[in-house]
Amino acid sequence: MATLHAYVHVPFCRVRCGYCDFNTYTATELEGFSQSDFVNQFAKELEISRGVLGNSRQLETVFFGGGTPTQLPASDLVGVLALLGDSFGIATGAEVTTEANPDNVDGFYLEKLREGGFNRISFGMQSAVPEVLETLERTHSPENVPKSVRLAKKLEFETSVDLIYGAPKETMDEWKRSVDSAISLETDHISAYALIVEEGTKLARQIKRGDLPEPDEDLQAAKYEWADAQFASAGLNWYELSNWSRSKQTESRHNIAYWVGNDWWGYGPGAHSHLEGERWWNVKHPSAYAGKLAEGLSPEADRETLTESQKFEERVLLESRLASGLDLSIIENKEAVAGLIADDLIDAKQAFQGKLVLTLRGRLLADLVVRRLV
Ligand SMILES: C[S@@+](CC[C@H](N)C(=O)[O-])C[C@H]1O[C@@H](n2cnc3c(N)ncnc32)[C@H](O)[C@@H]1O
Ligand code: SF4
Repeated sequence: MATLHAYVHVPFCRVRCGYCDFNTYTATELEGFSQSDFVNQFAKELEISRGVLGNSRQLETVFFGGGTPTQLPASDLVGVLALLGDSFGIATGAEVTTEANPDNVDGFYLEKLREGGFNRISFGMQSAVPEVLETLERTHSPENVPKSVRLAKKLEFETSVDLIYGAPKETMDEWKRSVDSAISLETDHISAYALIVEEGTKLARQIKRGDLPEPDEDLQAAKYEWADAQFASAGLNWYELSNWSRSKQTESRHNIAYWVGNDWWGYGPGAHSHLEGERWWNVKHPSAYAGKLAEGLSPEADRETLTESQKFEERVLLESRLASGLDLSIIENKEAVAGLIADDLIDAKQAFQGKLVLTLRGRLLADLVVRRLV
């Protein structure tokens, strides 16, 4: 049976970064919903999930994401984790992560999380260069990143940082400074995402108006290659297109569970869930979410059952991004596979052993690889 995982979506941010279109709200956008009511609302959805899931499976991973989970007091995050533990049990050795903004955690906050059962923290670093942070409209002070990581390591958290490459105007030199700075933190894990210009964001409007240049795709690819080489020589190896880890043990088990299609319940406004090929997602606004729960209803907005062809496409899309590769026995189009080898997009040796694993060139053209297979 698939393993069980929990995601908790905390949809609050102090301010919205110009590039971000995540389901998150600043205090003035909450339309009467109070952040202090988050745990109460969560408890109501937890009750529903208990009814559906029973209690035969313990949680293998728990992930608090957002938004900014650390907008809430540490006692709220610990309280939610304790409720999950009471309902399902947290498996021995489970990975329990929270995302964090380097600006709103201190030693006391982190200590409370550690005592409450958290063992992994992912900090939103994005860049080490003040000018790039300004373009991204990040409000955190760059010096708070090493400070927070140091504190987390002292408390024996596993640590990770998120980087973004390809912000408008970001030069190769600036990106190199960010990569060097991230490596010098000696975290267990680094995620590096190409900046996506999302429709409807302030960044998209700035680009449309010509106030900022569009990200340059060739430069983004060069930045990826450079980062990958630096991470590798620092002992951080890629295990998914945008993720590098110091060892097998420090890979994000929670994200791997998504990528290989295990079962997870996503709690909170707008959160997505997946159980045995059935997918659903909650209403997005916290007030609408609370409204549904107040009526004794599920906060679900809609659901879908994956067809066999959707399941196949999703498997190809997600597993081909993994260094562990996609099982080639599910691909009927052998000609396409031969073409990918000929074009140096997938590793020939691994392909002969039955696994589709992207080459570095393939990682830069991952979307093309998937299009050729599905
Ligand atoms: C929910 S945030 C992490 C926690 C916290 N809110 C923060 O930003 O520090 C998740 C990550 O998604 C990435 N992200 C968000 N919007 C993005 C975009 N448009 N393009 C690329 N990465 C993005 C950022 O790297 C961010 O760290
Ligand atoms: S990137 Fe993080 S801090 Fe910025 S708006 Fe999005 S969720 Fe909030």
